[in-house]
Amino acid sequence: MKQADPSEPQTSALPLHMIDILRKKRDGLALEAGEIEFVARGAGSGEIPQDQLAAWLMAAWIRGLSLDETRTLALAMRDSGEKFSPARLGKKAVDKHSSGGVGDKTSFLVAPLAAACGVAVPMISGRALGHTGGTLDKLEAIPGYRTALSLAEFEAVLKKCGASIVGQTPALVPADRVLYALRDRTGTVENPSLICASILSKKLAAGLDALVLDVKTGSGAFLPRYEDCEFLAALMVATAEAAGTRTVALLTDMDQPLGYAAGNWIELVEAVDLLRGQRPVASEDLRELSLILAGWMIFLGGQAESAQAGYTRAEKALADGSALRIFFEMVAAQGGDVRVFDDPGFHKPGATRVLEAWENGHVASMDTTALGWAVQRLGAGREKAGEPVDPHAGILFHTRRGTKVERGQPFATLYATSDAHLAEPEGILKRAIRFCQAPPQPVPLVSRIFIRAEAEEYLARP
Ligand code: URA
Repeated sequence: MKQADPSEPQTSALPLHMIDILRKKRDGLALEAGEIEFVARGAGSGEIPQDQLAAWLMAAWIRGLSLDETRTLALAMRDSGEKFSPARLGKKAVDKHSSGGVGDKTSFLVAPLAAACGVAVPMISGRALGHTGGTLDKLEAIPGYRTALSLAEFEAVLKKCGASIVGQTPALVPADRVLYALRDRTGTVENPSLICASILSKKLAAGLDALVLDVKTGSGAFLPRYEDCEFLAALMVATAEAAGTRTVALLTDMDQPLGYAAGNWIELVEAVDLLRGQRPVASEDLRELSLILAGWMIFLGGQAESAQAGYTRAEKALADGSALRIFFEMVAAQGGDVRVFDDPGFHKPGATRVLEAWENGHVASMDTTALGWAVQRLGAGREKAGEPVDPHAGILFHTRRGTKVERGQPFATLYATSDAHLAEPEGILKRAIRFCQAPPQPVPLVSRIFIRAEAEEYLARP
């Protein structure tokens, strides 16, 4: 990135104007801390108009942000609103966040698992973004569930249940609320610095002691090149550690949807079935990853000697039903009606189609980003910011990567808002799957782990 011309006057001494800042980034110059803080503050307060913010996001996406710019943006976004202080909870506060995936419902498992093992989990989550689903949209499929809590309500739920999952509000990380929705509409999601600042602004605003990051890799990740995912993981670990939060990042497989369900309500059902002790084969990757992530949370929260010991504790909390109890208590404490989990008539999609396999062979690969768009276009996501999503839309996958299929056997069940919503996603899905005759090589669920020292070393490389 070009350096600012030293003969130019220092902008920090002058009043700042958004037009100057976005032209500077458009021209590939590094921004000063004060300029980035101006953008984050103005985004959160609504003082900078959306067209200028959108132009700045595109300039940042194309020109890139340096490590210093990224760190400054993350902290300035964190500081754009109120912050939560978990000190009164009397426990270590630890959370996990994913860089975005398809069928990724680990939050519904790891939050109660870690809480059941003595860790407080104040989780500030997001909505559907690009092709990926949003934890808040999924939770709002439960009638009555409130994601916009005041800080006092957030604290009360945490004290009662040990975990609470909420969204940004006009008071809590407002800069991310605004920039996140704008990125979703302007094709500026897939950038490591913007992802890093978005995720960490929310996590650092929750005052966490420690953080576990799940950085997705593969065809469904925002950054499909493996090296870019490593960079994102290192960037987030180093940035969060520099801000005083102990952080670890796991690079995990998103070359196929996680578990068998991708949508809103149907993902909650898959997660609750696991919390109830069921073990469908198609949910094994979800179960395993949730236990691994919870194990790290429990370890970093001081409740186990190692991540492996944390895993064992999490497995016990799954088996003895304590995590299930906490999940239901949290849902009820946030206004949700838990009876729907026992009501087989609750799931009422507008239209249903069972898609049969159209070839013989093994499932060789899945373009998981395309599958995510198929889910969104069935009605599970939104075309425009602020639109409601269809809680019942989504896809149940009856096949996984490597599964041997015969033409005519059920491949996936599509749930849509209406018949008119079925054709495009069905076409996308068919184009997204490749078949082969020999089973494909398995992909590891967790391929790499970054802790602070490795992250710093990685970023220091020329
Ligand atoms: N999750 C977030 O919160 N922000 C992003 O930019 C991507 C995933």
